[in-house]
Amino acid sequence: MARKPFIAGNWKMNNTIEQGLALVNALKTAKNKNNADIMVAPSFTAINAVANALKGTGFIVAAQDCYFEEKGAFTSQVSPEQIKEAGATAVILGHSERRALFGDTNEILNKKIAAALRHNLQVIYCVGETLAEREANKIEQVITSQLVEGLKGYSAEDLKTLVIAYEPVWAIGTGKTATPEQAEEVHALIRKVLTNMLGADFANNTRILYGGSVKAENVDFIMAKDNVDGVLVGGQALIAEKFTRIIDYE
Ligand code: 13P
Repeated sequence: MARKPFIAGNWKMNNTIEQGLALVNALKTAKNKNNADIMVAPSFTAINAVANALKGTGFIVAAQDCYFEEKGAFTSQVSPEQIKEAGATAVILGHSERRALFGDTNEILNKKIAAALRHNLQVIYCVGETLAEREANKIEQVITSQLVEGLKGYSAEDLKTLVIAYEPVWAIGTGKTATPEQAEEVHALIRKVLTNMLGADFANNTRILYGGSVKAENVDFIMAKDNVDGVLVGGQALIAEKFTRIIDYE
């Protein structure tokens, strides 16, 4: 069964509205020869302008987070309804920067996923181990608990649009990419855990992205692996020519 490739750019805390618009206007010229789903995730402030600029192109616009409550006294937080109204149809949840810097736990993420699903937002759920966890041979344990605790209580039907992003923390923004073999090994593990949780059909249909120092120069090798269905790109997604080359990987 062929899974549709998914190429995503996480802009993190970069790009003003003006810079974001210049970037997406340049990205629109990508050939998209692999017929991939293409996603960009701007800051909350730029979602509306970027979504308007991309209307009719098929690009997916995502938020980088959302809160789990519907509304109320939660200063600074943004609800799924608000990001949806702004034009996002997807949301990245559990990015390692959210987990490490802002206290997002598997339990909190489980609630954020529920809130996103209630509003029919596509969830890109991020998992990944730190270097210390890798060196202590804890990859399987860490990834399994991120999946089991984060996705607890949902059926395969609930999660039919879910995308998983494997982002080893030691490879994010460090220039150290996992080798294609290291990525493939953990992607296969993720598919095994998903099979145990939600069945083989679900696991075989769910796209698993690799993230961590993906660049134009290494994307072809990473995408060549059987269990790698796409990439979640940080730094290189901010540069139009680089991200265009990543979209049109060989
Ligand atoms: P880099 O591509 O800059 O390493 O970032 C990866 C990432 O965290 C994408 O979400």
